Amino acid sequence: MSDLLLSDDPLYAELYDVRREAEAMRNYVAEDQSEAIAALRANAPVHAGPLRELLGLPEHQRHVMAAGKPKYCVLSFDACETVLRDSKRFSSTIVHHPNPADEKTMGVLEMDGGEHRAFRRALQPIFLKHNAEGWWRTRWINEAVARLVASLKTRQRADLNLDFCARIPVHTITTAIGLDGEAALKFRLAWMKSGGVGRVAPDEQCSAAQQVEAMLLALIAKRRTAPQDDVITRLINSQVALPGEEPRALTDREVMLNARLIMIAGGGTSWRQMGIALLGLLTNPDQLAAVRQDRSLLDAAIEESARWCTNSGLFCRLVTKDTELEGVDLPEGAVVELWLNAANRDPTRWDRPDQFDLFRPVQNHLGFGIGQHRCLGLNVAKQEMFAGISALLDAFPNLRLDPDAEVPFITGGLEQRGPSALPVLLN
Ligand code: HEM
Repeated sequence: MSDLLLSDDPLYAELYDVRREAEAMRNYVAEDQSEAIAALRANAPVHAGPLRELLGLPEHQRHVMAAGKPKYCVLSFDACETVLRDSKRFSSTIVHHPNPADEKTMGVLEMDGGEHRAFRRALQPIFLKHNAEGWWRTRWINEAVARLVASLKTRQRADLNLDFCARIPVHTITTAIGLDGEAALKFRLAWMKSGGVGRVAPDEQCSAAQQVEAMLLALIAKRRTAPQDDVITRLINSQVALPGEEPRALTDREVMLNARLIMIAGGGTSWRQMGIALLGLLTNPDQLAAVRQDRSLLDAAIEESARWCTNSGLFCRLVTKDTELEGVDLPEGAVVELWLNAANRDPTRWDRPDQFDLFRPVQNHLGFGIGQHRCLGLNVAKQEMFAGISALLDAFPNLRLDPDAEVPFITGGLEQRGPSALPVLLN
């Protein structure tokens, strides 16, 4: 495993600071909007217009295809669930990122119907629960966690956001894909630049996108001749059975696009979510003590963190034909915004929805989505968070928020959330 895991490379602070990330993406929101969103949701589950506009915030253009289309925002649990479960009326074929050919570049995430089922089936085995608990844990996650905890042992204070949470997912996903661990930050930087993050000029954006593709295509070429036990090799060995076609291997481009999606989906999400789960526990000492007593409660704490505040709060769908949702007419071609955190705090479904409470009765939430596109990597994400938090609790029986530091809070854009920092006393 690379030394970058433990290094003080300033790129960590640049790439793994929730506020800076949101500012670079031009969607940072300074004021807490929970009350205003709750008021909108109480007023109606579905509204004409994008949520940001309804809140008086500057627009954040999320998808290429959304430009110029009528937009609606969906805020209640039932309405979001209806949309997520109905891919006939609400399509996922939305181009997320600018590219010269307006190509769908996000693999399974942007597919529908038979094509989506076929590719999802091809990818699924890599992410099954037993593989997350076995292959992912033993080959990638456990070592990163153990080395990070050992590095904290000599210290009194830490910012767990930067010194711990940021490092586990990016190293897990980079090395599991098959790239050298030293490439972890390079990939993320190039990826963020390719999406126009950080006000980069269009030609720099283009060359960053090419760099990301080139890194993965070079790896695919290498693995075709010298297979290894990693995600790229498993994707190369997968078969896709598209409707009406004979099963076949994935092309280099299909492997590249899906590998890139896995790296993007896996590199930033579990980082922010592990921080949210730790924040929930550290600010609720009774619940933290209960988890210390009975480690099996950690699963419930992780699940509750995704209900309380999912780090990825917005997914969109394209309306395929004129339809109606909760009494609102939606024209064909409109874009519906599904605000998962608004849905997950719907008071008609949860008591005291704004409170983190791992003892809540178990019921579905939308933190990992639901329906056909439900998060493919959720078992991996849960293993990363479980392994990381559990190891911290074992190593530091007195772990607590640092009373001399600024009290941490959840920040970012409405679209991606995470803790401002996690300053702790370790001993
Ligand atoms: C706590 C962390 C994570 C959260 C909250 C999260 C959330 C989500 C959500 C809400 C979706 C559904 C998107 C939609 O309906 O359009 C999704 C899809 C997806 N996620 Fe995650 N994710 C997380 C971690 C990961 C990780 C670690 C990986 C990979 C290792 C991953 C891979 C994917 C993939 C490939 C999809 C697309 C699935 C499809 O379209 O069929 N995610 N994720």
